[in-house]
Amino acid sequence: MMEKLVPSHASSHPPRRAWSSARIACTSAVAFAGLLLLVARWPLQIVSLPSTIKPTATQLVSPYGRFPLPNDPFQFVPCTTAYSLPPLDDSDARRTWSALFDPNPDHWRWGAAPSNPEPNLLRYDGDHDGDRYAGRGIHLCGYLDLPLDYLSNSDSRIVRLAVAKFQVSGLSLIDSPRLPHSTPHQQSIQAGAKSERTIVVEPGGPGASGIYHVWTAAENITERFSQGQFDVLGWDPRGVEFSLPSAACFPHNVDRDRWSLLTGLSREDSKQPRQLDVVDAMNNATFYACQKRLGDFGRFVSTASVARDLEEIRKALMEEDLTAYFISYGTGIAQTYVNTFPDRVGRVILDGCQYIKDQRQLAGFGMTSLDNVTDAWRDGFLGECAKAGSERCALARPLDTVGDLETRMSKLFESILARPASAYTEANGPSIITYSSLLTTIYDSLYDPRDWPATALLLSELEAGNSTLAAVALAERWGFDTSLLCSTDELSSDELFSLVVCADSYDAPQPDGGLEWWGQLWANMTSQSWISGNSRFLDVFACRHFTKYWPHVSEVYRGHLNHTLANPVLLISTTYDPATPLRNGRRLLEEMGQNAKLVVHHGYGHTSRFHRSDCTDSIGRSFILNGTLPAGRETNCFADKKPYQI
Ligand SMILES: *[C@@H]1O[C@H](CO)[C@@H](O)[C@H](O)[C@H]1NC(C)=O
Ligand SMILES: *[C@@H]1O[C@H](CO)[C@@H](O)[C@H](O)[C@H]1NC(C)=O
Ligand SMILES: *[C@@H]1O[C@H](CO)[C@@H](O)[C@H](O)[C@H]1NC(C)=O
Ligand SMILES: *[C@@H]1O[C@H](CO)[C@@H](O)[C@H](O)[C@H]1NC(C)=O
Ligand SMILES: *[C@@H]1O[C@H](CO)[C@@H](O)[C@H](O)[C@H]1NC(C)=O
Ligand SMILES: *[C@@H]1O[C@H](CO)[C@@H](O)[C@H](O)[C@H]1NC(C)=O
Ligand SMILES: *[C@@H]1O[C@H](CO)[C@@H](O)[C@H](O)[C@H]1NC(C)=O
Repeated sequence: MMEKLVPSHASSHPPRRAWSSARIACTSAVAFAGLLLLVARWPLQIVSLPSTIKPTATQLVSPYGRFPLPNDPFQFVPCTTAYSLPPLDDSDARRTWSALFDPNPDHWRWGAAPSNPEPNLLRYDGDHDGDRYAGRGIHLCGYLDLPLDYLSNSDSRIVRLAVAKFQVSGLSLIDSPRLPHSTPHQQSIQAGAKSERTIVVEPGGPGASGIYHVWTAAENITERFSQGQFDVLGWDPRGVEFSLPSAACFPHNVDRDRWSLLTGLSREDSKQPRQLDVVDAMNNATFYACQKRLGDFGRFVSTASVARDLEEIRKALMEEDLTAYFISYGTGIAQTYVNTFPDRVGRVILDGCQYIKDQRQLAGFGMTSLDNVTDAWRDGFLGECAKAGSERCALARPLDTVGDLETRMSKLFESILARPASAYTEANGPSIITYSSLLTTIYDSLYDPRDWPATALLLSELEAGNSTLAAVALAERWGFDTSLLCSTDELSSDELFSLVVCADSYDAPQPDGGLEWWGQLWANMTSQSWISGNSRFLDVFACRHFTKYWPHVSEVYRGHLNHTLANPVLLISTTYDPATPLRNGRRLLEEMGQNAKLVVHHGYGHTSRFHRSDCTDSIGRSFILNGTLPAGRETNCFADKKPYQI
């Protein structure tokens, strides 16, 4: 089986998915394909090659040469929407991969055109009609083969990690002189050349796709932190999405979806303790299936193994030290990395900090995440709504205080809990709005305050008895927008999430009291956070069965987080973060001492990406570009705009 190197299938697990906001949706790939149609076709031609490059007879050559380039450890080719990694049992993977190279630059994913192209961009006329992609960055796709088990000399199995890079300098035509690149910040960089440093990114999860992250966010990230000067590289961690093997334990996504309707119910929506038995049996069945399909793979997905992969990526980049922007669970990978390879720490930002030692405890993942969810709902979503007024927030009514809004919403939720609302949408037909699904909609929305006006409108219509928008939102999250032609047969690697979380805590003692203890935990978590307690509980509940199938995890990191690093790291914590609260950043800072600085980002949403602050961004930029950090241990930065005005 080949996995397509294209983000195509939606994350199909509505009740979960919490540490990252990356959602793989058909929409973007398809929208992108649509965009491509607007680009004029490049005349394909065979051009004469430097003698070092020997094409096989069947291979066309692009005006930018052939890919992969010789000696490129990542085997990069310009990304199209159609590549697949060679299967693990391919005896000549490199050749298989090279043969897939599509030489038509119109099929490649290029960066945005420069906003003010300089006139000399079009002057290389040679045999072509100019370099129509001059000044544009390019997305490159490739892979890296790494050991499955770093601690074994006898196990020769590998993982094949999908890697993507946004190269800011773009590509140079093979028959034109190598002239300086011409975007404003790029005067000194040659087209087609690697940047001085590469910002390695990791979007969290566990299980979020770095390929998709680069695909959708790299241009924004390089602008934000390096004024467009540094390349951005991401990868799908072992087990994730396009990497091989893929931690997909259901033969078809639709099978997972079917069961998730039953197992994703909130505590309030289900009969207790019956539901606990149902979910527990399914968790066991799922891990059983994972072992059937993937064998001992569950032993090799811990965060410690991922940190080793990251070190191999740094080496392959041929950079002395690591430059990185890691978010959410990615900060757990970063904490493990910097304490395992302290001499290789260059300029590393951790945004939306976990405290990775939590993950060593049974059910520790997600425990602290409950801290500020209700605060974000009350002060943020509702409080800012009341302040913004009905012009900006559909839920607001003249004279309504936050308290009034809260009361109205409680009534709405109680009525939906008592009886789900029937709904209908043209695209997806009949549907219902349940309490469980409404919680999911709200929790999702707290991740990104830019969503708040739409969510407020949805709730106000639901309150008025119109369930259409709520049903549309659900269908979108589910990922099957039937108006789009997108492949639904790609397997998604959702099971990777539990495998990582449970591998990291595999040696924590199981509680006495069995299921009863877990039932109590569920009650405790939902009472701490009525919005996210359910999903956080379901995130960890499967760990009850992990060691039955994978009793010995290859490696976990159990050291402290206070190693002396070659360079201090920059931590960012957002005051109303609904997944990674400030408490984590403070604990980490306390333990890391001189090896970290903390930005307290006063704002809403998960990480500092969505509710922007010039202050936070410029601290990040000085660090990534110049290596300079604020003098104080903690720096307060405030979001630039109010929610409902972003
Ligand atoms: C990046 O995305 C943020 C959030 O959507 C947006 O505010 C910002 O303008 C973007 N920045 C760049 C440089 O594109
Ligand atoms: C777990 O699932 C396997 C496979 O179906 C089954 O043999 C075993 O009895 C189950 N264990 C529990 C505790 O349910
Ligand atoms: C977040 O939660 C912590 C712990 O409950 C609390 O001390 C803090 O004030 C909360 N932050 C906000 C912004 O409400
Ligand atoms: C319900 O809401 C949808 C979406 O806003 C709207 O198109 C539709 O007209 C509404 N239906 C009624 C009966 O008001
Ligand atoms: C749930 O909370 C109660 C009261 O705080 C505590 O005694 C109990 O240990 C908790 N149970 C679990 C499983 O966390
Ligand atoms: C790290 O913390 C541990 C536990 O507090 C302490 O024993 C150790 O000396 C610390 N190491 C360094 C390098 O500060
Ligand atoms: C980096 O340092 C240079 C030279 O000191 C300075 O001009 C520039 O503004 C700095 N850039 C950032 C983003 O801090």
